[in-house]
Amino acid sequence: MTEWPVYGRIDGPIVMIGFGSIGKGTLPLIERHFKFDKKRLVVIDPNDADRAMLDKAGIAFHHVALTAHNYRDVLVPLLTRGGGQGFCVNVSVDTSSVAIMELCREIGALYIDTVIEPWTGFYFDKTLPPEARSNYALRETLLAAKRKNPGGTTAVSTCGANPGMVSWFVKQGLVNLAADLGDTAPEPTTREEWAALSSRLGVKGIHIAERDTQRAKTPKPQGVFVNTWSVEGFLSEGMQPAELGWGTHERWKPDNAIGHKGGCGAAIFLNQPGANTRVRSWTPTAQAQYGFLVTHNESISIADYLTHRDQNGAVVYRPTCHYAYHPANDAVLSLHEVFGQAGRIQDTHHILSESEILDGIDELGVLLFGHGKNAYWYGSQLSIEETRRIAPNQNATGLQVTSAVLAGMVWALENPTAGIVEADEMDYRRCLEVQMPYLGPVIGAYTDWTPLTDRPGFFPEDIDESDPWQFRNILVR
Ligand SMILES: NC(=O)c1ccc[n+]([C@@H]2O[C@H](COP(=O)([O-])OP(=O)(O)OC[C@H]3O[C@@H](n4cnc5c(N)ncnc54)[C@H](O)[C@@H]3O)[C@@H](O)[C@H]2O)c1
Repeated sequence: MTEWPVYGRIDGPIVMIGFGSIGKGTLPLIERHFKFDKKRLVVIDPNDADRAMLDKAGIAFHHVALTAHNYRDVLVPLLTRGGGQGFCVNVSVDTSSVAIMELCREIGALYIDTVIEPWTGFYFDKTLPPEARSNYALRETLLAAKRKNPGGTTAVSTCGANPGMVSWFVKQGLVNLAADLGDTAPEPTTREEWAALSSRLGVKGIHIAERDTQRAKTPKPQGVFVNTWSVEGFLSEGMQPAELGWGTHERWKPDNAIGHKGGCGAAIFLNQPGANTRVRSWTPTAQAQYGFLVTHNESISIADYLTHRDQNGAVVYRPTCHYAYHPANDAVLSLHEVFGQAGRIQDTHHILSESEILDGIDELGVLLFGHGKNAYWYGSQLSIEETRRIAPNQNATGLQVTSAVLAGMVWALENPTAGIVEADEMDYRRCLEVQMPYLGPVIGAYTDWTPLTDRPGFFPEDIDESDPWQFRNILVR
């Protein structure tokens, strides 16, 4: 594509919080797809390592760390000066998404983020029990903010690739599956109808099934954590408990599975770190593979969104939903080092820039399983080569995220008074329409693989042969 569409005008200031791998990739997409006054764009980051890029582009930089004490003083002037509706793009770590989102709504500025991030210290606070360090707990703070102030200025929560785009893939996947299974009902228009469709199709569970095959030109040095996106972000979520949306078809739970006392009730957690929890899953390139059951917001939000209740409010259907992430090989080795040293994190962290990557793709999609056609993967197979051709400053993993931020920003501009929304609640067709040019091949693939394929092998295993799609068969023990 040579002519890039301009989706609208941002008539107030734009404040980007965080200029890490996602910020650096999002900025050129904002410049490409929106009309705005460049003099009113400011980037905030306590790390000025990449300031030269901003200076060169004539973009203002604020060298500051946002904290619970200063965020109002820093953000309010920046988001209101000069009139028009401000837009806050939060792609940082260690800043409270909910606090900043509530402030933006107070002053009428649009807001978007890619994760429900807490203030610094939360993830590694040893005084907090695992349930308090969970994404379930973080998401409940978002839902409480939404209940407290329904409607109003749009704030898009957790709108990256995953969480984010994968919620749109789930809907497209269900629609494709409905067509292939001969379900002729009209496409759902409400949450209840989506849940009913998923239930009717017999979808027992959903993996966010990802294989990142991007390889570095130079081998990973020992003692360095190497990843294709935020090392800090990955370690933070990897050290949270493994969390999953808990389906109604499940007949077995691991001994260390724990439910939550309050809240939406859609998820459980295992009392162990997600980045040290392996599951069996499938993607088209890898075929059968191990992935890490790292907690993610979408594991809970998708399971919650697709929960079908009877007239009395009792849950009659919910799919199991969780991440099954095979990160880049260097990140797998990096995790191996961490857990080999009882969770001690390397002092040196490195995010692979696009110029350091030899080849590979980020294959990120959703595996809908347990239905009449066994399992269906729908997702993006974006390569590093294509990424280089179509967008600057990022690798394939980054572009899947930043193009979702772009789609979320377009949706927010077009729906400025939708209140606080999760990706599940947005118009998936519009969002995917905006995002598609950046996703490389987007394919749907059926497989006859199940977690029981070729098992048991040489040794006896505790498996449930009556239903391959039980979590008992998926969890590696
Ligand atoms: N939903 C998704 O698909 C998805 C994917 C990748 C990343 N993310 C999230 O996006 C965020 C950014 O990821 P990234 O890869 O760019 O991370 P990164 O580590 O490369 O960059 C984060 C930036 O935030 C800055 N920062 C740290 N403390 C700050 C503070 N107090 N105030 C302002 N800025 C601060 C850091 O200096 C850094 O430049 C993370 O929260 C990450 O989890 C989401």
